[in-house]
Amino acid sequence: MDKFVIRGGNPLVGTIRVSGAKNSALPCMAAAILTEDVVTLSNIPRVRDIETERKLLQSMGAEVGLREGEAQDRTTICCRTLSDPVAKYEIVKTMRASSLVLGPLVARVGMARVAMPGGCAIGGRPIDLHIRGLEKMGATITQEHGYLEARADRLHGAHIVFDKITVTGTEDLLMAAVLADGETLMENCAREPEVTDLTALLKAMGAKIQGAGTSTIRVQGVSKLHGAEYRINPDRIEAGTFLIAGAITAGDLIVANCNTSHLRAVIAKLLQAGARVEVLGPDAVRVRSDGKLRAVDITTEEYPGFPTDMQAQYMALATQAQGECRVTENIFENRFMHVQELVRMGANIKVDGNTATVRGPAQLSAAAVMCSDLRASASLVLAALVADGESVLDRVYHMDRGYERIEEKLCGVGAQIQRLGNLFAPREPES
Ligand code: EPU
Repeated sequence: MDKFVIRGGNPLVGTIRVSGAKNSALPCMAAAILTEDVVTLSNIPRVRDIETERKLLQSMGAEVGLREGEAQDRTTICCRTLSDPVAKYEIVKTMRASSLVLGPLVARVGMARVAMPGGCAIGGRPIDLHIRGLEKMGATITQEHGYLEARADRLHGAHIVFDKITVTGTEDLLMAAVLADGETLMENCAREPEVTDLTALLKAMGAKIQGAGTSTIRVQGVSKLHGAEYRINPDRIEAGTFLIAGAITAGDLIVANCNTSHLRAVIAKLLQAGARVEVLGPDAVRVRSDGKLRAVDITTEEYPGFPTDMQAQYMALATQAQGECRVTENIFENRFMHVQELVRMGANIKVDGNTATVRGPAQLSAAAVMCSDLRASASLVLAALVADGESVLDRVYHMDRGYERIEEKLCGVGAQIQRLGNLFAPREPES
């Protein structure tokens, strides 16, 4: 398994470019199931979860590829033949977003078998709301041997009110609704930019959708969708991680190729914490810091609130801020796995239920630490960038699930990071 060796102490200076959003690319790839035609996606990040989704679609009979001579961030998907509409456990266990194929498969071929995802490091992650919504749309769902089987000759429109805001749940049911018979009204939907990204692709494929980006989405089902070309939006979490990297290292960093309108909550907190942040335009933002940061509380919320996917990275920053702050995690029940590792590096953090109290600034000292999930890994990279000495981060495959060549990008602006091992090791690790 790959490791990172990181020598801390360098301010990050220069321009760093953001890749396409993993969490947009995943549902957009699943959306290709909805048509017999070719869907071409660009700005696809080269990360492990995308490789996993490629394998998942291929295992169902889809043709997924990079066209000869085309840019590496472009992929074509043709789901004319879906001979095996099954998401196997071997794939689902490494990537919970595999449940995103449930809705589109039932809508397109009338049946889906998807392994139940089970829990993961950050929480239980049930998919009961996906199931309940599909049942309302007329699917019959059975569960056996760890698999969910959903069947429907043709789904029909329904009125769905989500008990809880769910990002992939909204995306899954949206993809089911676009080919359903009649109108679907979905309330209490996720308003994340990734839902809006998926909607833009679905509309380009001929779907009739209103209200994406708000909590009420209305869909008029159509009988068929066609192929389309679509460019995935930049990754707001990668961009946010880089903004924190600039601030925590007392650097001067331009984060380019991002969508600054998706970064408002993170930018607002950085400004309160004393970083200088300047939006240079719709796709670039500059962050500077003199290293004197103030402790500021955060509470994770659904978009447009402060994202749970930035909580761990923010906590690394908080260890370097003057004073005491509270970090409250409202979305997942167990998303503080990075805390113990940060404490091992010298941070002063106490957890009580879903709130962590961070006292700073702490002089972090390099240590051997373990990555437990994607964003926890990012938090440890950030901490290691300011720690005294050389840290060794184990299990960086978690990082590779969602950050494209992060060590190359960070080294390009002055970080000292070495990878030990291969980027895509032959063995499939569990998440
Ligand atoms: N939930 C249910 N029932 C459901 C679905 C969700 O109770 O049927 C609960 C979850 O347990 C959680 C809350 O609702 O407590 C929100 O979960 P959500 O469904 O929104 O999460 P998700 O769709 O599984 C996506 C991202 C996550 C991100 C969350 C929250 C993808 C592929 N994943 O997950 O990204 O943290 O939304 O914004 O889009 C990451 O990239 O590191 C990551 C974990």
